[in-house]
Amino acid sequence: MASGRYARVFAVSRSGAVIDGADNRQAEFTDEAQLAALAGEIGAAGPVTLCLVASGLLSDGPDLQPEKTYRSLSLDAFERVFAANTIAPALIAKHMLPLMPKAERSVFAALSARVGSISDNRLGGWHAYRASKAALNMLIRNFAIEQARRAPANICVGLNPGTVDTGLSKAFQGGVPGDKLFTPQQSAGYLLGVIDSLKAEDSGKCFDWAGQEVPA
Ligand SMILES: NC(=O)c1ccc[n+]([C@@H]2O[C@H](COP(=O)([O-])OP(=O)(O)OC[C@H]3O[C@@H](n4cnc5c(N)ncnc54)[C@H](OP(=O)(O)O)[C@@H]3O)[C@@H](O)[C@H]2O)c1
Repeated sequence: MASGRYARVFAVSRSGAVIDGADNRQAEFTDEAQLAALAGEIGAAGPVTLCLVASGLLSDGPDLQPEKTYRSLSLDAFERVFAANTIAPALIAKHMLPLMPKAERSVFAALSARVGSISDNRLGGWHAYRASKAALNMLIRNFAIEQARRAPANICVGLNPGTVDTGLSKAFQGGVPGDKLFTPQQSAGYLLGVIDSLKAEDSGKCFDWAGQEVPA
């Protein structure tokens, strides 16, 4: 999928996972020296027309679970969830946005989540995750404003992939109708379609897998 749509694809993960058809690289997303080295290599290959940040963290074992109450808040959970969901995409943007062309259309997209919408929040809970995605959405808006001055054809968006059958959502899929539980491939296909359809005026906003804007 990746190599068919784009001339060259770099797939970067902290584990160094291998994706067929991509140039696979390993990096810690909060290590600026590693991101700078990566940007040097990617930039040397040509202008970047799409940067898609698809990493994120909701839970990890008994010590890191989405909080049902503020009584469960912890510094460690906040630090880990914000590092993965907010700080990493922001630092990736810092190193990748300058590689995006000034006049040719390009897209910086980060996977956000509907629960990061403040106006859509009717259930509460999931404090660190919700807050980290709301902060990500704010940064995306900020980057869009800044890029409009530097590289007006660049579009920065948050994308909600829907409920996707991955380790992240496994424990929270109850009540999701079968036709609304997507495979990763299905969701990726929908999101690439949304990315293709984005226009300059969409920059700074968040969209779901169906291309519907998610309110801030
Ligand atoms: N699945 C859903 O239903 C759903 C719904 C809404 C939004 N999202 C969002 O979609 C994105 C992808 O989620 P997913 O379902 O694919 O989750 P996943 O299966 O748990 O995969 C998350 C990926 O993020 C990486 N990651 C986590 N923390 C990281 C860190 N600190 N630095 C670098 N990489 C890190 C993981 O790397 P390792 O393999 O090394 O751990 C893993 O590859 C996330 O941003 C999530 O919030 C997902």
